[in-house]
Amino acid sequence: MNVRPAFANYLPAGPPPPLAQIIALMRESHARDLALSDEFSLAKSLQRRLDGGGLAGWPAYLDRLAQDSGEAKALLASLNIGYSEFFREPLAFAWLEQVILPGLMQQRGQAGLRVWSAGCAAGQEAWSIAILLDEQNAERGQPVPIRIFATDRVETLLTEAREGVYDAASVQQLRLKHLRRYFTVTGDVYRISPALKSCVDFSVFDLLAEGTTSPVAAIYGDFDLVFCCNLLFYYRPEVRQRILDKIVRALRPGGYCVTGAAEREIVARQTELYAVAPPAAVFQKRR
Ligand SMILES: C[S@@+](CC[C@H](N)C(=O)[O-])C[C@H]1O[C@@H](n2cnc3c(N)ncnc32)[C@H](O)[C@@H]1O
Repeated sequence: MNVRPAFANYLPAGPPPPLAQIIALMRESHARDLALSDEFSLAKSLQRRLDGGGLAGWPAYLDRLAQDSGEAKALLASLNIGYSEFFREPLAFAWLEQVILPGLMQQRGQAGLRVWSAGCAAGQEAWSIAILLDEQNAERGQPVPIRIFATDRVETLLTEAREGVYDAASVQQLRLKHLRRYFTVTGDVYRISPALKSCVDFSVFDLLAEGTTSPVAAIYGDFDLVFCCNLLFYYRPEVRQRILDKIVRALRPGGYCVTGAAEREIVARQTELYAVAPPAAVFQKRR
């Protein structure tokens, strides 16, 4: 694979990582296909591993990767960025809160609202939308039944998500009224309230797995709203497309899709979706 030209400006001037050899090695010994990753993200992670490992160069790195399974695990972990925040996409959440959710709730009524947070990391995105929906339900005469399915391929992140326990730094983006209403606080520890927990179902789901269309727990797709935020850009363009095809299939006609602001341009090219709130990365599936 010739990777140099695409990111020559961003990497140190030294020789580029021998991606083809690294990809082959990881396929054979760890059954992981790094060729699916975005080349720039992969090269950046490798460069960090090389620099951090104090190795003389790529031949030495290849040797270590071949001999030390801990290095392979560390490389995979560095590629699977699980960072998240509450209300991470502020503009998209503002559109949801003020425009989209009131309309959807009115429209769906007692049929209920189905939401999927795909690539939910430690749960912040799923809890954020749960907070907005619960708050709006509290203002309605008749609450709309809510089901939120939140998935990730990393089980350890899902365990954290289910626990719903966060430190003070993690809850900085929350409004005071949300903190008071939806968390119990002990010292510096913030716990999601049991009432909110009952409307979110966390489960393992790999967006790249063949033959699966939506979380098993959801039984069927037909989602009114799907989040697929800040994961597309870790993948090569053809892989992003596979993920987006899955998301679009899982949406009901007229349903909404939210991505990361940095991924807006990728999604804007999808013919089945159109932007409803530029510059927010909020899209609607054509009916
Ligand atoms: C950077 S985090 C973003 C979390 C959250 N969506 C947000 O915007 O804050 C990306 C998440 O996507 C998950 N992820 C990456 N590839 C995935 C895949 N193929 N299937 C399911 N989850 C995936 C990662 O494990 C990670 O938790």
